[in-house]
Amino acid sequence: MKWTWDKSDAVLMCGMVSAVGAMAVSTLVSCSCWLLFILLWGVFAGIYIISAALEVSPEGRCVLVTGCDSGFGLALALHLNNLGFRVFAGCLLAESGGEGAKQLRQVKSGKLHVLQLDVTSPKQISAAVEQVKKIMPKGEMLWGVVNNAGYSTYGEVEWVPIDIFNKALQVNTVGLIAVTKAFLPLVRKAKGRVVTISSGLARMAAPMRSPYIVSKYAVEGFCDCLRYEMRAWGVKVSIIEPGNFIAATNIFTKKGIEDTAEIMWKQMSEEVKKDYGRSHFRARVDLMKKYANTGDTDLSPVLHAFTEGLVQRFPQVRYNPMNLYFRARLFVATHLPEWVYERLYIQ
Ligand SMILES: NC(=O)c1ccc[n+]([C@@H]2O[C@H](COP(=O)([O-])OP(=O)(O)OC[C@H]3O[C@@H](n4cnc5c(N)ncnc54)[C@H](OP(=O)(O)O)[C@@H]3O)[C@@H](O)[C@H]2O)c1
Repeated sequence: MKWTWDKSDAVLMCGMVSAVGAMAVSTLVSCSCWLLFILLWGVFAGIYIISAALEVSPEGRCVLVTGCDSGFGLALALHLNNLGFRVFAGCLLAESGGEGAKQLRQVKSGKLHVLQLDVTSPKQISAAVEQVKKIMPKGEMLWGVVNNAGYSTYGEVEWVPIDIFNKALQVNTVGLIAVTKAFLPLVRKAKGRVVTISSGLARMAAPMRSPYIVSKYAVEGFCDCLRYEMRAWGVKVSIIEPGNFIAATNIFTKKGIEDTAEIMWKQMSEEVKKDYGRSHFRARVDLMKKYANTGDTDLSPVLHAFTEGLVQRFPQVRYNPMNLYFRARLFVATHLPEWVYERLYIQ
């Protein structure tokens, strides 16, 4: 079992609960508060660590991953295949010469299958379900659906055409819901897993990112509802909330940022252009281009979180593969008053 910041958080939480419990008990019964605290913390942390280490075997289990053309999806399809899962890698460009699909097809494995899958196409989703049923050997089960496909964009609310908001919602939210619904009957039979990537930005907003952030906040709500409903079926639902790995994937490219800037400026009303001004607009676009080079370049914390969501017998509800800066920021955003977050992080 690999130790992560999430596990340190959980052990600290056990400590806090133990401290409260020990104080309460020692006021009622005369005993050493410190001794009881250490004892309770040891027991709770031990139970947590043992349950976190229990895993299922990949043997006979299949996983569908969306968005395997690049980034996390491509790396995850290869990683899960190496672990021994049968992987159905959904690619947007499987039938039109995409590089990711080509790379996956070169892998010499009878257990890695590339599927054409645009998550916004109901026809392609139905076809993918049929293909999975056809390819999956008797005795194997669809253990997991990994919702990874995503689209990111930027811009102040008044600059972003409604079509771009629509695209973000179609790919990141509606498409994800459609894929999940289509594969759930198979996953329910397996009492399996739905593992969905949202973002650290799905629980803390930032300016210039509204089209992406609205779609990711919605994903969190969807996954929480699904988790409550699936409890009755034995299906576990986890969310991965990564920090910034932009430099390591294709989610933001300088070309994409420039292309979007052109579309936004063209479609902006004269009134909005005049009020914001070309120089402010350009300064924000240039800032985004600098942002495209930032973030962690090692994808392994995210791959590890996806894997734990699939193999841990008792998976976490949320995994936060992020560096300390984002961890602290998420803590401030979710636990402290709103004005503290704004003072510290919003210029
Ligand atoms: N990188 C980060 O810092 C970060 C942080 C938090 C969360 N995330 C999330 O992680 C997920 C993966 O992103 P990534 O960073 O690995 O970026 P990426 O390299 O751009 O991967 C996203 C993949 O989704 C594919 N895709 C886009 N539209 C699709 C559609 N309609 N149907 C199927 N696939 C589609 C993309 O294909 P094309 O390239 O051909 O368009 C691409 O292969 C996304 O959901 C993203 O929001 C990323």
